[in-house]
Amino acid sequence: MQTWTVRPIGFVRSPFTETHQVPRGLGAKHDEEGVLEILPEFEPGLRDIESFSHLFVLWLFDRSEGFSLEGTPPCDTKSHGVFATRSPRRPNPIALTVVRLLRHENNRLHVRGVDMLDGTPILDIKPYLSSIPESELKRGWLAQAEARRAKENTK
Ligand SMILES: C[S@@+](CC[C@H](N)C(=O)[O-])C[C@H]1O[C@@H](n2cnc3c(N)ncnc32)[C@H](O)[C@@H]1O
Repeated sequence: MQTWTVRPIGFVRSPFTETHQVPRGLGAKHDEEGVLEILPEFEPGLRDIESFSHLFVLWLFDRSEGFSLEGTPPCDTKSHGVFATRSPRRPNPIALTVVRLLRHENNRLHVRGVDMLDGTPILDIKPYLSSIPESELKRGWLAQAEARRAKENTK
């Protein structure tokens, strides 16, 4: 099977050093600020990025080992296929986070909404654009997990 090699374009500076520090589960808020430090050789690629409010950050789960094709996420009691979850233990350990761009300073992007550990390798950055109306978006099994949680909270 053909394989491809990727290399980091930079590294995340984050307040989180351990996985358990990152908020998780239903309703978890990702408000922490961090910095995307882009390697000097790639800095010209950041030109005009400050005109976007939000960015997609593709990064590597460099501290997760192996993968499971099925598993129970922390926000549910039921098992799901890995591609229906955001599990760090996936065949290609690639992650995607949407962050708010606060400031662009040379090779550094100050952002809000990091869920990565400090030192996480960044694979790519793209402007966040979505043309899908909210009314057409389905939240899958998460909608049921959220409804169950809401029901439990009213008991
Ligand atoms: C559920 S994943 C979601 C990540 C991303 N937002 C996504 O959807 O692909 C977030 C978890 O990944 C873990 N994590 C963060 N940085 C990591 C790294 N560099 N290596 C392995 N796990 C990491 C943290 O425990 C965090 O709670």
